[in-house]
Amino acid sequence: MSKHAISAPGAEDPGGLEITPLGADAGFSEEPVSARARPIPRISIQVFCENAAMAEIVQVAAEDRRLAKVHLSVHMGGIEAAVAHYQQNPTPNLVVIESSLPRDQILAELDHLAASCDPGTKVIVVGHVNDVVLYRDLLRRGVSEYLVEPIAPLQLMEAISNLYNNPETEPVGHVYAFIGAKGGVGSSTVCHNAAWALSEVLKANVVIADLDLAFGTTGLDFNQDPVQGIADALSSPERLDEVLLDRLLTKCSEHLSIFAAPVVLDRDYDITAEGCEQVIDVVRQNVPYVVVDLPHFWTAWSKRILMQADEVIVTAAPDLANLRNAKNIVDLLQQTRRNDSKPRLVMNMVNMPKRPEISVKEFEAALGIKAMSVIEFDSETFGQAANNGQMIEELNAKAKSAPAFRDVALAMTHRRETQVAKKPSALAPFLEKLKLKL
Ligand SMILES: Nc1ncnc2c1ncn2[C@@H]1O[C@H](COP(=O)(O)OP(=O)(O)OP(=O)(O)O)[C@@H](O)[C@H]1O
Ligand SMILES: [Mg+2]
Repeated sequence: MSKHAISAPGAEDPGGLEITPLGADAGFSEEPVSARARPIPRISIQVFCENAAMAEIVQVAAEDRRLAKVHLSVHMGGIEAAVAHYQQNPTPNLVVIESSLPRDQILAELDHLAASCDPGTKVIVVGHVNDVVLYRDLLRRGVSEYLVEPIAPLQLMEAISNLYNNPETEPVGHVYAFIGAKGGVGSSTVCHNAAWALSEVLKANVVIADLDLAFGTTGLDFNQDPVQGIADALSSPERLDEVLLDRLLTKCSEHLSIFAAPVVLDRDYDITAEGCEQVIDVVRQNVPYVVVDLPHFWTAWSKRILMQADEVIVTAAPDLANLRNAKNIVDLLQQTRRNDSKPRLVMNMVNMPKRPEISVKEFEAALGIKAMSVIEFDSETFGQAANNGQMIEELNAKAKSAPAFRDVALAMTHRRETQVAKKPSALAPFLEKLKLKL
């Protein structure tokens, strides 16, 4: 906490300031609350609670993937305990204090606290009353945020994330992990087509990281012959920075680059979960959308990527083994990612001629998830696209499956088609005139 007073924004504006709970929807936003809390960097946080309910909320937040790097400790005793503690100990990056004391007492205790706070330490206060005057006084004293109880774990995470993820200085990209429920079900095809659609529709930079190091098809699918790529980054993740990343990426179009797999078998790929995380972290610091194409096998690092991703997309074909595996993946992710939305399901290769299939409805009921897209089996289109090194939409924009990938791209980024700039229809001027007349 800064020892110097800062003035609250809008403090001079009488009555102009209201406290809006962070979890509440302030204005139009398509992002779910869970997506607004971004991964929090390697900082230390100490929380001083007054009651057990708050300690429990902090505990839930502490177990969340977004706080995986944070060093967090919880103490009881509220603000008085904090004041006593920091007279003896150095302050961490962030102190969170729960206090039900009346306004004057909170302020007096905070002044004591400020006397032993390091200048870089930030403070969040969690109080019991929605009191605008207190809020202003706290901001004037350099408190970063005031939350009013009851708060949910996500609200707390969002408040912390807002302090440490400044979108202007540190863009933190979203990570989407694609995995197949079984080998060969089209997970990479869905991943590449969705990533391509994302880069075309949003006109934002997208990187595909192909983690199928020995057999990955990203280079082939985009008709590229990359020399270096992700294996070089993974072999010495600590060397990876913006400049090296730029050299290792292969540009496929204005907004799409691939971090291609080497696809050679004469070397061993000893990937560690930490190495993977480090590499993905560097990529996400540099690009807004990171799409990870995972191979269909279960390792410590593939599991870690699934646990840490912002969204997981499971592609499955409609048979029993796919159903069992998809259920296992979905159950595991739901157990361990309690504050996240459910994994996404793409049903692929549906309606293959002469094949007995489990219906999409049954699949959805068993998993408790609605498929975000159902893509039919179409060997002609998919075979041709794969052989040409083209995306489905590039090959044939009229193909039945072409719109599916746009839908996947928009759904995984929580956007709707209407929010994306569309070409005006030829009838637009006429329709406008009609609207004016009505
Ligand atoms: N809907 C579809 N209809 C017909 N063929 C498809 C369809 N989707 C994908 N394919 C084809 O299936 C094959 C396997 O696809 P892909 O490599 O994407 O699967 P995968 O799940 O990533 O496999 P792996 O387990 O090897 O990673 C490819 O030849 C692809 O063109
Ligand atoms: Mg694959």
